[in-house]
Amino acid sequence: MGNTTTVFGGTGFLGSAIVQQIVASGRPVRIAARHPARPAWAGDDAAIELATADVRDEASVARALEGTVAAVNAVSLYTESGGNDTFHAVHVEGAGRVARLAQDAGVRRLVLISGIGADTASPSSYVRARAHGEQSVRAGFPDAIIVRPSVLFGPQDAFLSNLARLSQLPVIPLFGRGDTRLQPVLVDDVAKAVAHLTGSADPASPLFELGGAQVYTYREIVKQVLAHLGRRRPLIPVPFFLWRALAALARPLPNPPLTRDQVLLMQPDNVVGDEVGTFADLDITPRSLEESLPHCLEPASREAKP
Ligand SMILES: NC(=O)c1ccc[n+]([C@@H]2O[C@H](COP(=O)([O-])OP(=O)(O)OC[C@H]3O[C@@H](n4cnc5c(N)ncnc54)[C@H](OP(=O)(O)O)[C@@H]3O)[C@@H](O)[C@H]2O)c1
Repeated sequence: MGNTTTVFGGTGFLGSAIVQQIVASGRPVRIAARHPARPAWAGDDAAIELATADVRDEASVARALEGTVAAVNAVSLYTESGGNDTFHAVHVEGAGRVARLAQDAGVRRLVLISGIGADTASPSSYVRARAHGEQSVRAGFPDAIIVRPSVLFGPQDAFLSNLARLSQLPVIPLFGRGDTRLQPVLVDDVAKAVAHLTGSADPASPLFELGGAQVYTYREIVKQVLAHLGRRRPLIPVPFFLWRALAALARPLPNPPLTRDQVLLMQPDNVVGDEVGTFADLDITPRSLEESLPHCLEPASREAKP
């Protein structure tokens, strides 16, 4: 396995798509996660190894990196549930640990998956942790490539599935007036880009922002999903301060349906910026939500069928 790439978070939504793209390009992969599992699509001959690793644990990360030529960190933590599962432990210390140990192990290429909008001055502790995580990765592995996707969608995703669930309500509450601009990007397009970046070609930039073919307002996306599902619902603007109040009320619940960070994430636009690497630098033409929706979400008329 001399050409192996370790994918931390390789069982996740994006991580598993990255694993599939790397294997499809003929290179071996090591999936590293706390509960690693061989993907259902992988035949017996697919060059996939499993490593049990927690980015909060030094020894397990070092083992997962042994003998690998490249590494990807696609680990996520979206909500803090108490104990050691904090944004700082996973996105700052954990990301920094992977970077430092990758450098020590002589790994040639490291890709960190972050997110558009990472900012140390954000009011969101999640967004601040992503920005501090980028800094700790650069400190540990100066040549690391940082990839910031916009909101990801695909079959069995969280984004479209949540909108489909929301569309069952008699009215659809919008975040503010629904004017926030997003650039939804197909998970397979991002995975293709990351697989390319783990290869031997020199990257065009140390920082990539990856968005889909088209920018939409949140309102336009909701309308598109409703039309696809064949549902007509009134869209009701709900001010952000009310969403924040709802998130505060939901906070004591064991699995809150909404967190303050999720509300804060919906306030600024989430689109590809200037002076960053993009899909164009990788010769990849990203697809739009419009063209991909039929492959990602069952129309409502077929949802109930077995
Ligand atoms: N989804 C989006 O719309 C979106 C948009 C922009 C950026 N991103 C970024 O893309 C990355 C991947 O997100 P995703 O949605 O694909 O995540 P996901 O589906 O929640 O998968 C998370 C992965 O991380 C692993 N993991 C979690 N905690 C870990 C730990 N302490 N140590 C080792 N592995 C751990 C999980 O496996 P185990 O539980 O078995 O450990 C799983 O493989 C994240 O950085 C996320 O912020 C996502």
